[in-house]
Amino acid sequence: MIYNKIINLLLVEDEEYDVRRVRNTIKPFEEMIKIREVVSIGTHAIELLRKENNNFDIVIMDYQIAGGLMGEELIKKIKEISPAIQIIVITKMTINISNFNFADRLIKAGAFWYCTKYPGDIEDFIYQPTDFIMSIFNAFEKKILEQEKYRSNKKLNKNIEDILSQKLIVGKSKEIEDLRSQIERYSQNNANILITGRSGTGKELVAVNIHYKSLRKYENFVVINCGSLPHDLIESELFGYEKGAFTGATSRKLGLFEIANHGTIFLDEIAELPLLAQSKLLRVIQEGEIEKIGRQEKIKVNVRIIAATNKNLALEVNEKRFREDLFYRLNVVPIHVPSLKHRKGDIPFLVDHFLNSFCTELGKNKPTVEDNAMEILLKYEWPGNVRELMNVIQRISFNDERTITASDVNNALISLPGTNRKFGARVMEFFNSGEVLQWQEMEKILKGSYFTFVRQQSDSDAEAAKKLGLAPPNYHRMCKELGIK
Ligand SMILES: Nc1ncnc2c1ncn2[C@@H]1O[C@H](COP(=O)(O)OP(=O)(O)OP(=O)(O)O)[C@@H](O)[C@H]1O
Ligand SMILES: [Mg+2]
Repeated sequence: MIYNKIINLLLVEDEEYDVRRVRNTIKPFEEMIKIREVVSIGTHAIELLRKENNNFDIVIMDYQIAGGLMGEELIKKIKEISPAIQIIVITKMTINISNFNFADRLIKAGAFWYCTKYPGDIEDFIYQPTDFIMSIFNAFEKKILEQEKYRSNKKLNKNIEDILSQKLIVGKSKEIEDLRSQIERYSQNNANILITGRSGTGKELVAVNIHYKSLRKYENFVVINCGSLPHDLIESELFGYEKGAFTGATSRKLGLFEIANHGTIFLDEIAELPLLAQSKLLRVIQEGEIEKIGRQEKIKVNVRIIAATNKNLALEVNEKRFREDLFYRLNVVPIHVPSLKHRKGDIPFLVDHFLNSFCTELGKNKPTVEDNAMEILLKYEWPGNVRELMNVIQRISFNDERTITASDVNNALISLPGTNRKFGARVMEFFNSGEVLQWQEMEKILKGSYFTFVRQQSDSDAEAAKKLGLAPPNYHRMCKELGIK
């Protein structure tokens, strides 16, 4: 109990006699419990609290007062002004002494406690004095806790706002507006979602936004790229294992589903999940339980699943590469993210957005984009979608000019992976431009161009990795190093 702080009361009571009885009851504790103000009608209490709610910890209010505003309505209004303030209601003993529903209604409206006044012939006390004092101390403790909870929620919400401000979905096209309203709508429920769209359209961005706008926002958002998990490790990555489950299991390992418990799991490139892992995933969705390797009992998990793919998953089902039952379980809510070439009106906004962020990062002023430079950006088909546009703008941002010209854009399109011209022709254009770069930079450009070229000839990362003769995890690591992912 908190005995070293002053507790400030607002008394809402219209009978002088009862004001006196309240004063008498708390008298032995007057050093700690102070009646700061006494008002006789509800509207005055509200006016006072609006002006200075920080000066009060607890409101003690008579249930029946003159002036209209009283009872549950007054309780709700006080809680609207300050959710942390605690309210103790005192009522005449003659009414509702044995009516549990009445007390229950007051508590539901937001009151902390409820007591019936002593009969009128007891002058010294309003209510059993130790009970009365104890309820004031308890109310005060609750006030402190609620205030702390409010402050830490505010901090958490601030962090979430920060995350969302870095994960803005830029664009004003009808397609993006529709996407935004889908995100708002679907973030409010728990249905599994399947996001489709070509590479680089923003599928992961949509998933992140849904998670941080949902009730699960304070919990983990776990990303799994199904294409980059080595097949023999999928089960232990997803579900974990107990110590000693197999040779080499020297300690217990948490599975990604456990880490995501109460939060959201993002299964990227879901089409790449091998059939065996698909059936295990189906069981998790159906039963809400995971089977950990080396453990008898199942573990309950509550995870929202958002899956994404740039393949046509229905076609994968037809071809028997993807389980039909799993497809329906994942595709409860479908979201399609359209390719950039179908919403070119977004390009100027995206250009501005990426210029802002790259120039801020590099600590320089944002250059202006010349009209004919913008024309090229608008005409181009963007096979690598928003990611390709972002890479082009990043490359242009390294220039030190105040304006971005058509040739800046052309150069960036030539030297960057992502044009739909043949790779060899692009490399030749680079040589013809006469620019000499250090080998390390050129190597990165060549590798990046070639990786993206191969990626464009493939339907998925997994297929691109195969064509390049690389294991998917290595392919992913190299893409990250090259700044393609
Ligand atoms: N509308 C948008 N506004 C701002 N940034 C965007 C937008 N769409 C995509 N981006 C950015 O483009 C990049 C690619 O987006 P993201 O990774 O979400 O695409 P994806 O569809 O998951 O691609 P892939 O299929 O290749 O995994 C990210 O850096 C993302 O932040
Ligand atoms: Mg992605």
